[in-house]
Amino acid sequence: MTRAVCPGSYDPVTLGHLDVIGRAAAQVEELVVAVGTNVSKRAWFTPDERVDMLTEACAEWRGVSIALFSGLLVDFCQEQHASMVVKGLRNGADVDYEIAMAQMNRRLSGVDTLYLATAPEWSFVSSSLVREVAGLGGDVTPFLTPAVAERVRQRAQQRSST
Ligand code: PNS
Repeated sequence: MTRAVCPGSYDPVTLGHLDVIGRAAAQVEELVVAVGTNVSKRAWFTPDERVDMLTEACAEWRGVSIALFSGLLVDFCQEQHASMVVKGLRNGADVDYEIAMAQMNRRLSGVDTLYLATAPEWSFVSSSLVREVAGLGGDVTPFLTPAVAERVRQRAQQRSST
């Protein structure tokens, strides 16, 4: 059975993420979307909130499950009996960042990483930019599901009033 892990911070999940998740799910029997912590980023949403948003957004896809992980991605892949990691690549900056992680993960455990090129309409979309634009009052609804957009709107409002 082909079981892959699609890891990310998903803070919050965007339509770009969902494009990659849906296409990755079509290539494998089971896809575990793994919500992790990127130590270099300050999150807007708790890990549980991010899992909730992904669970709702991926509800229609068979073979897709959502999980939280902490610690090393390669340890999580081993626990899950996943033979590979799948990620999206948007641009050259992603390539530089991702290749080093893929090489490190392969050196640590032998797990390989497969990349899908992001659909061009989402290549400029990132969770970080969504948070920045939403935090400054911009409209991020084109980049999110309606349910996630509503959560982002509420969180931006809470953050501006504290
Ligand atoms: O969406 P992001 O922020 O690019 O996701 C990054 C994430 C969480 C997938 C990455 O930081 C990660 O794999 N963290 C787990 C810790 C780990 O294994 N670090 C070594 C990577 S070589």
